[in-house]
Amino acid sequence: MLQVPHIPVMLDEVKTIFKSLKDGYLVDCTLGYGGHTYALLSEKKSLHAIGCDRDEEAVEFSKKRFEQFKDRVTIEHKNFSSIIGKYEHLPICGILADIGVSSLQLDKNERGFGFDSLNLDMRMDTAQNLSAYEVVNRYPKNELERILRDYGELKEYKKIAKLICDKREKEPVKDAKTLADLVGRRGHFNGRSVSPATLVFQAVRIEVNRELQELEELLKSIQNSKITDCIVCIISFHSLEDRIVKQTFKSWAKSCICLPEALKCECGNNHALGEIITKKALEPTNEEVKANPRSRSSKLRAFYIKRGVHA
Ligand SMILES: C[S@@+](CC[C@H](N)C(=O)[O-])C[C@H]1O[C@@H](n2cnc3c(N)ncnc32)[C@H](O)[C@@H]1O
Repeated sequence: MLQVPHIPVMLDEVKTIFKSLKDGYLVDCTLGYGGHTYALLSEKKSLHAIGCDRDEEAVEFSKKRFEQFKDRVTIEHKNFSSIIGKYEHLPICGILADIGVSSLQLDKNERGFGFDSLNLDMRMDTAQNLSAYEVVNRYPKNELERILRDYGELKEYKKIAKLICDKREKEPVKDAKTLADLVGRRGHFNGRSVSPATLVFQAVRIEVNRELQELEELLKSIQNSKITDCIVCIISFHSLEDRIVKQTFKSWAKSCICLPEALKCECGNNHALGEIITKKALEPTNEEVKANPRSRSSKLRAFYIKRGVHA
């Protein structure tokens, strides 16, 4: 029996969102260890799935896990920004993206995501060149400031960038543990006890993996495709991602795209891509957070794409 190293978050909510799916293809953009898709394929005997992940380790694991479903599943080592373009000719009825980091990535010391890791890596795809080591040790100070400010939302971004630059002038910051100790593992942010290290690691990880650009490109690829009659469900883990999803879904639901100053509608008032399913983002229940504390910051938003009928 395979030991699955990741607990899927908000599984009940995902099953509810996709309850109407019968046949067609589900695209799981972040297959990981397969938790969500395994549950959906087990319940829905005519559903097919395409799963992709940029983490080779996850892909290899899932190929074994999905052996019994091999006639219904295609698994790819790929960034999700290019998955829709490749498969949009198929009848895609569901798109799931559970973005973020898997438990295995966080827990495996050599992947360099955790505070006590003896590496400074954080690449989801270990074949790519840019790693956390390059970002922390080679980025110019102003670039470090930019990522700490924009991706870490750190008020003290200048001070922390200087701390890192002073340290690396003496010797390179070789591992995650040194970085976490340097910037501080304790502190508060927005009234919550989030340490500077948490936010610095978030910022570096987002930069290394182009996380926000990947999400934006995925959403653009869905928007520009011909896919219709399809439920899109995105689970995000921090406010920067959630903001992108929320604003994109809002713009997709807009029927009239005339400029605000227009006196009357001249666009035809038929531009909506469909409708928002979750008026407010869904969050995990207290029971789930207790059982799986890593689910605590997750937010789920869903959208139903139905082109050409919303006036
Ligand atoms: C939270 S885990 C997904 C877990 C999965 N739903 C499960 O139940 O096992 C997120 C996964 O997304 C992958 N990932 C993140 N960004 C990606 C991207 N841009 N393209 C492809 N995979 C990505 C990560 O490598 C990781 O395995």
